[in-house]
Amino acid sequence: MTLDALFRPYRLTPRLTLPNRIVLAPCTRNRATADLSPTPGAARHYGERADAGLLITEAVLILPGIQGFIDTPGIFLDSHQRAWAGVADAVHDRGGRIFLQLWHPGRMSHSHFAGTAPRSASDVLDPARRRQVGGLELYHERPRPLSGAEIGAVIAAYAAAASRAIAAGFDGVEIHAANGYLPEQFWRAHTNRRTDAWGGTAAGRARFTIEVAGACAQAVGAGRVGIRLSPAAYFSEMKYSDGDNDALDLILSNLSDCGLAYVHTGVVTDNPVGYLDGTSTAYLRRRWAGTLIGNGGYTPGFAAEGIDRGDFDLAAFGKLFLANPDLVARLSAGADLAPYSRAVLDGFE
Ligand SMILES: Cc1cc2nc3c(=O)[nH]c(=O)nc-3n(C[C@H](O)[C@H](O)[C@H](O)COP(=O)(O)O)c2cc1C
Repeated sequence: MTLDALFRPYRLTPRLTLPNRIVLAPCTRNRATADLSPTPGAARHYGERADAGLLITEAVLILPGIQGFIDTPGIFLDSHQRAWAGVADAVHDRGGRIFLQLWHPGRMSHSHFAGTAPRSASDVLDPARRRQVGGLELYHERPRPLSGAEIGAVIAAYAAAASRAIAAGFDGVEIHAANGYLPEQFWRAHTNRRTDAWGGTAAGRARFTIEVAGACAQAVGAGRVGIRLSPAAYFSEMKYSDGDNDALDLILSNLSDCGLAYVHTGVVTDNPVGYLDGTSTAYLRRRWAGTLIGNGGYTPGFAAEGIDRGDFDLAAFGKLFLANPDLVARLSAGADLAPYSRAVLDGFE
């Protein structure tokens, strides 16, 4: 099987041509200093993967008081920005390109880390259920609905974080609107029970994600903004409801008008789903004419075939790229790949 398709250059934006189609999927490393700056090991981690067409960082918190997982870094303090600048420099020094993923966990925040109760579109999360966070077992906390004024402040925080990322030297940002975090909590009916202008109808539920994308595009330019979306409800206790696809379709048509750099599939395994009439990536392809990054349990061979067929333009690899920092060189040489395991994560610095 030939992997040639993975090694074809791709013009992502007028200012960014990628030497190959291989993308590092955003993967949380659970390494941060006491003030939630990325650790010095982050520069090495991303720098040694710089021969990818594009790197996307781990999810990065846009605000204080929203942390939900152990040792996840932020981009809301000057010290964060300085530390991230070291990461961007390490990647650029090796000729690479890197986007920073902007993250608000919403109801997946936890007072154990955040020091305050989680906030979301509505107060939907079963507090009787437990979640595993690293070695910890925590009960879910019922979130408090964000007020209209708070929603405006959160949207402004996405834009401010995007500006900080660009000021730190990143080539762009990816809005994390996938995997059941805050934007998805707004557009899915199960987690958005609001009756104000931020809910109620598909247009109301779509509004938050559309406004976040618009605010980031206005802050740093649409060509520097990508977005990750999960058409399949599969993570963070998300549930599909009738009408969800209407909200997602409104988001996608709006993103097309706003000219974002790319849309990226967020799913662990890109299998067909009944209510999507196919895979998550195929759903996005039918509704988004721009660059599409496919992801979700792909082997290199599957990814090359998908690019050849036109199913997606770029392929993101998570676990394989974590286990093989030299993934691009190995694929190019036809070398064997190291398997992914828990030990890979434990080895991060
Ligand atoms: C350890 C780990 C951490 C992850 N962290 C993130 C993250 O911060 N942001 C995100 O959008 N996805 C995250 N993901 C999901 C991956 O980006 C990817 O979608 C998923 O692993 C499926 O792709 P793969 O089969 O190539 O690994 C993570 C996955 C793993 C394994």
